[in-house]
Amino acid sequence: MPGIIDAYRSYLPVTDKTPTLSLHEGDTPLIHAPKLSRELGIELHLKFEGLNPTGSFKDRGMVMAVAKAAEEGARSVICASTGNTSAAAAAYAARMDMQCYVLIPDGRIALGKLAQAVMYGAKIISIDGNFDEALKLVREISASEGIALVNSVNPYRLEGQKTAAFEVVDTLGKAPDILCLPVGNAGNISAYWKGFREYRSHGKMDTLPRMWGIQAAGAAPLARGLARVDEPETLATAIRIGAPASAILARQAVNESAGLFDMVTDDEILDAYRKVAQDGVFCEPASAAPIAGLIKLHAAGKLAAGLQVVAVLTGNGLKDPNIALQAVKVQPTQASADLASVLSALR
Ligand code: F0G
Repeated sequence: MPGIIDAYRSYLPVTDKTPTLSLHEGDTPLIHAPKLSRELGIELHLKFEGLNPTGSFKDRGMVMAVAKAAEEGARSVICASTGNTSAAAAAYAARMDMQCYVLIPDGRIALGKLAQAVMYGAKIISIDGNFDEALKLVREISASEGIALVNSVNPYRLEGQKTAAFEVVDTLGKAPDILCLPVGNAGNISAYWKGFREYRSHGKMDTLPRMWGIQAAGAAPLARGLARVDEPETLATAIRIGAPASAILARQAVNESAGLFDMVTDDEILDAYRKVAQDGVFCEPASAAPIAGLIKLHAAGKLAAGLQVVAVLTGNGLKDPNIALQAVKVQPTQASADLASVLSALR
C-alpha cells in the first residue's frame, strides 16, 4: 500500500488540492500472540503500530494533519509531545519543507524519540513542565502565531488514525470482540471508535467491538473517573498525561461500545512488556499497558474465554532502549575472542 491517504482516500477528507504525502505509513501487521493467547484463554492479535515509518501509530494521523496544513497554506507546524507525536510531526514536516516546532517535557521523553525529532530537523523546546502544560502552551502559540497545531485536537489527526480500525477489520474480515489499547491524551481510542462506526455504516462489518482503554495508574484520570490528575507519573512516558484532551470522545467510545477503562501499575506494565517480547514483539512500555490490562482483567475473571481480542501496540520498543535494559537486568557476558572462551561463556 502507498500510505493511508491513497489506501483509504474515499474515507478521508482529502481534495484534489491535498498534496501527495506518504512515508508508506499504515498497513501494519496484525500478529497473532500464541503464548499470551494461551495464558489468557483468548485469541489475541497484536496490531503492531511500531512498524510505521517513524515507529508509532502517530504517522497515520500526522500524514493527514501535515498534508491538510500544507493544503491550507501553513508554512510551519507545532505540537506538544511525550515523544512520538514530535517524531512523526518532524518527519512529515521535513518532507513538506515546513518548519516543525515541538514542546516536550524536560528529561521525560525516550531517547529514540528525541533523536528522531533532532534528525528530522525540528526546533525542540524542552519545558520544565509536563505534557498537559506543553499542550496548553502550544494551543496558545498556535492561535497567536498562526502556526498549524498538529496535536490530536486537530481533527485531521483522528481522521488519519481511524484507518487503523479499517485495517483491523480488513484483516480479520470483521471486528474483534474487544479492541484494547493504551490511553494517554485519548485521541487514539476516539479515532478507532470513529473508524469502526464508519466502516460499519459502509457495510464492511456487522458488529462493533467493545473498546477497552488502559491507563497507567499514575496517570489515570479516565480509569479513576476524574476530570484530571495534576501530577501524572509513570515510567511509560508516552502516556504520562493528566488531562486527556479527547476525554469526552473517549468516554463516548467506552460507553457506546459497552467497553471499559482500567489502569495498571508500572510493575504490571513491565511484566507485560517482557511477556510481549516472549511472543517475539518488542514494543515500547506504554504499548504494553493494554497487555497488562488484559492480564489484570483475566486474573479478575473479567475476560471471558475464547474471545477474539486485538491489542494495539502503539510504538516500537527501539524508541526506549533504556527501559528495556532496566526491565531485563541482563548484562552481556564478557569473553575473549576465541572459541573456548565463547563456548564457556555460552555454558
Ligand atoms: N502509546 C504511545 C506509544 C503513545 O505515544 C501515545 C501518545 C499513546 C499510546 C496514547 O495515545 O494520546 O491518543 O491516547 N503519545 C502522545 C505523544 C501523547 O505526544 O506522542 P493517545
